[in-house]
Amino acid sequence: MQPVDFQSFISGDDNSVVVIDLDYTKQRLLKINEQLNPKGVNAIAIKTNPLISVLKELNNGITAFEAASMGEIALAKAAGVANDKIIFDSPVKTEAELSWLIENAKGAYINADSMSELIKMQHFPSEFSIGLRINPSVKINTIDSVNVSGGSSKFGELLTEISEEWIDMLSSMSRLDGLHVHQASQNNDFANTVAGIRKVVDLANALPPKKIKFINIGGGLAYDYQNSNDVDIDAYFELLKATCPELFNGKYLLITEFGRYYYAGGASVYSKVEHVKDIDNQRKMAIIHVGADMFLRESYNNKDWYHRLSVCNENFQQVNREKVFNYDIGGPLCFAGDIPFKNHDLPEIKEGDWLKIHDAGANTFSLWSRHCSRPFPLVLGLKNGELSVLKPRESLQDVLRFWGNERNS
Ligand SMILES: Cc1ncc(COP(=O)(O)O)c(C=O)c1O
Repeated sequence: MQPVDFQSFISGDDNSVVVIDLDYTKQRLLKINEQLNPKGVNAIAIKTNPLISVLKELNNGITAFEAASMGEIALAKAAGVANDKIIFDSPVKTEAELSWLIENAKGAYINADSMSELIKMQHFPSEFSIGLRINPSVKINTIDSVNVSGGSSKFGELLTEISEEWIDMLSSMSRLDGLHVHQASQNNDFANTVAGIRKVVDLANALPPKKIKFINIGGGLAYDYQNSNDVDIDAYFELLKATCPELFNGKYLLITEFGRYYYAGGASVYSKVEHVKDIDNQRKMAIIHVGADMFLRESYNNKDWYHRLSVCNENFQQVNREKVFNYDIGGPLCFAGDIPFKNHDLPEIKEGDWLKIHDAGANTFSLWSRHCSRPFPLVLGLKNGELSVLKPRESLQDVLRFWGNERNS
């Protein structure tokens, strides 16, 4: 992200600010659109960044949105997303939710997570496109907590081999239009990913002709946090096109639902350094105002979830002071694990500096935690070089409302 002057948006009460570059995400949408041409549905996973103002900005009538819960459907609708641009993947759909969808979401794609869920959806009207999530049981090489491949995954129906039983079972479903597969996130393992998708395409090919209309290959593309770099999507799509031509020649409608790819490198978080403490002669601890409440995965596993850090002065300008120390960065929460970034060699940090956390656009503030009841910080957006407020800083009143017993209409 380019340096921008957002100081005029910051008041004395702001101790952290999220800055999102909307053009970054739009560029990446165009890149995936190019890969899906001439036809294909390009969805964004709402869970990665659920801010309504961001969803509104990206809702251009072409982009679709993947919702993992009824809350995310509500967010999509609040952003004006049309039903036929919603892909609903919640792994735990209730009967009440299914009834609500029939009344309120005609046109949506709905992926069942299991055969029993698919059976519950057999009465859905023809306006819906109904899919079944398949776990092709190909083990992907990535971080365990975001790896949903292989036999022990809780998602989808496990497909070990394409047996007569499978073919009979799926052929007998009058409402089955598509197959869905999402195998892993932060995923660089293109060979195994594409092998899993190939297995799903083989299953579609084994069913009666024209039964399967769409194949949704999920999300998963990794981001290179060490070097602030995108994964090589050309290489991914080249392999996918060579291995699964049916996804590109019109036989099946290809749907993607990436999340991290669209957002990771497009946002930074700045948080004020409140204290600096000595750990020993060489090592120091700087305490900032976001920790496990925003960087949850980082706090529980900072080796897997690394971010580059920079030290900025009170004017948000990056500084390169002569002395360098090894820092752990502690958050503001009252528990020992609230140390999202460890073992960073950085120029000397002074109290009153701002720490810039790079590449913080995906699965950071979207995992916001209420532990210790700190207000969610100000979020700014950058579009065509212009800044605006995407979400004002929460007030203490907002916090009271969350923990209170009054219903928010
Ligand atoms: C079903 C599904 N689709 C898409 C995504 C987005 O994945 P990613 O952010 O890795 O692209 C996820 C992430 O968990 C998911 O569970």
